[in-house]
Amino acid sequence: MVSRLEEQIRELRAALEDAAEGICRLDGAGRIVTVNRAFSRLFGIPADQAPGRAWEALLIEEERAAARADLASAAGRLERERTGVRSDGTTFPLQLIAVPLAGGGRPGSNGHYLYVHDLSDRKRMENQLIFAGRMAAVGTLAAGVAHEINNPLAYIVANIDFARSQINSVASRLSRAAVGGGPAHVLDETGEALTEARQGAERVRNIVRDLRVFARGDDDQSGPVSVRRVLDSSLNIAWNEIRHRARLVKDYGEMPLVEANESRLGQVFLNLLLNAAHAIPEGEAERNELRVTTRTDAQGRAVLEVRDTGMGIPPENRERIFDPFFTTKPVGEGTGLGLWICHGIVSALGGEVTVESEIGRGSTFRVTLPPALMDAPATFSTPTIPEVEARGARLLVVDDEPMILGALRRSLGGDYNVTCVGDGRRALERLRAGERFDVILCDLMMPELTGMDLYAELERIAPDQAGRMVFVSGGAFTPRAREFLERVPNARVEKPIDFQNLRLLLRNLSH
Ligand SMILES: Nc1ncnc2c1ncn2[C@@H]1O[C@H](COP(=O)(O)OP(=O)(O)OP(=O)(O)O)[C@@H](O)[C@H]1O
Ligand SMILES: [Mg+2]
Repeated sequence: MVSRLEEQIRELRAALEDAAEGICRLDGAGRIVTVNRAFSRLFGIPADQAPGRAWEALLIEEERAAARADLASAAGRLERERTGVRSDGTTFPLQLIAVPLAGGGRPGSNGHYLYVHDLSDRKRMENQLIFAGRMAAVGTLAAGVAHEINNPLAYIVANIDFARSQINSVASRLSRAAVGGGPAHVLDETGEALTEARQGAERVRNIVRDLRVFARGDDDQSGPVSVRRVLDSSLNIAWNEIRHRARLVKDYGEMPLVEANESRLGQVFLNLLLNAAHAIPEGEAERNELRVTTRTDAQGRAVLEVRDTGMGIPPENRERIFDPFFTTKPVGEGTGLGLWICHGIVSALGGEVTVESEIGRGSTFRVTLPPALMDAPATFSTPTIPEVEARGARLLVVDDEPMILGALRRSLGGDYNVTCVGDGRRALERLRAGERFDVILCDLMMPELTGMDLYAELERIAPDQAGRMVFVSGGAFTPRAREFLERVPNARVEKPIDFQNLRLLLRNLSH
């Protein structure tokens, strides 16, 4: 009978010893009596050195008093999330369950059983989700904002250009009539104001372009990418963080295109630039330098360096900065995922990230990427459109945004015979009825009948007219739109429309 009981106790003990959770028995004074294997592994304390220790010393200093109070006051089972300290001083999140031992007196006066579960993996996953969510949110937001700004910007620019050209022609007529003084002066001033307004609009256009680099976050497309262009976009986005801290020096040498995804590459550069900026205290911009260098190495690879004159990285951290969650920034300011992600993205492209650093003098991060294999360039295929007389060429503009139509009519009306319609259906009606155009400038995405639908219809009923379509797109492509644009040879124009380029394109198309 006794030996049966002993056997059961032995079995139970073995089961506890091998449990995956850390288990520990405490006496009534909160001192450790025994621990199982998992417990000693979790905290890095050999099982024979555990007994006699005060259990709360296994938690970080700040949590000890509260943890002690918890055990003293709890009448039953208690569950908490706390931060454990390993014997090497590193910390980890843990879940703690304390169960008072049965017996006489106050609960727990006989001691407790503690069950400890390591939450590191779960926290890591949670953080990763938060980070991924943040990136996705930024991407979606940027795409939305860029898209919303594009249309109004297009007609702001077009109308300013129109007003400027009107003013110029009035001014030259006035000067020919030699009416000096008042009106000419007013016209000069107005022309200047418009020129400044145009410059402002140009800056907004650049911001939108930069945003779009980051907006394509969930888009896996990769292709030959200009590192310098992506770098410039990243610099613009980071500029607010840089300008109070350092002079920016661009040292751009020749470098090959690389095969990459723009937004991923943008993420890499942005993080390197922000890290460099954050290594320099604010307010000493004149005494500090952030230098970005591009060049080609002996093997023909693209090399980009971000060099700062910031605080540098201590040698003991150098091995760890690429680890996920390693950060020296305060909680809430850095996730410690930046360099880890950079490393992941660059490695996937067959490249590498290296670092050199000296305490107090600064750091240099170097990204090396293999050159793109350039066998299929032609992103813009040459459209095949028969020659026609440019002046008076008939131009059909299809766009569901009335202001865009107005701006296009005004700015192109002088050179072309422009017909504007507000939706694809109406365009189709006119073409069905037999009207013909030299160029059809058509918005790709419209409610009801899209530019793609119109193209498909025209291919059937008037293939010649389908070939004369030029697609205007807002940049936020649906998979269908992307597939479509890859398939058809027609020329395309991106919003915000650059009217100078558009005019060139139209001249080429209609010549
Ligand atoms: N240019 C630099 N100068 C000095 N220290 C740097 C530099 N770049 C990175 N570090 C160090 O490497 C750590 C990890 O960088 P990483 O980009 O991975 O994360 P983070 O910048 O802390 O957080 P997040 O990128 O989420 O903002 C930083 O906390 C910092 O200690
Ligand atoms: Mg960072």
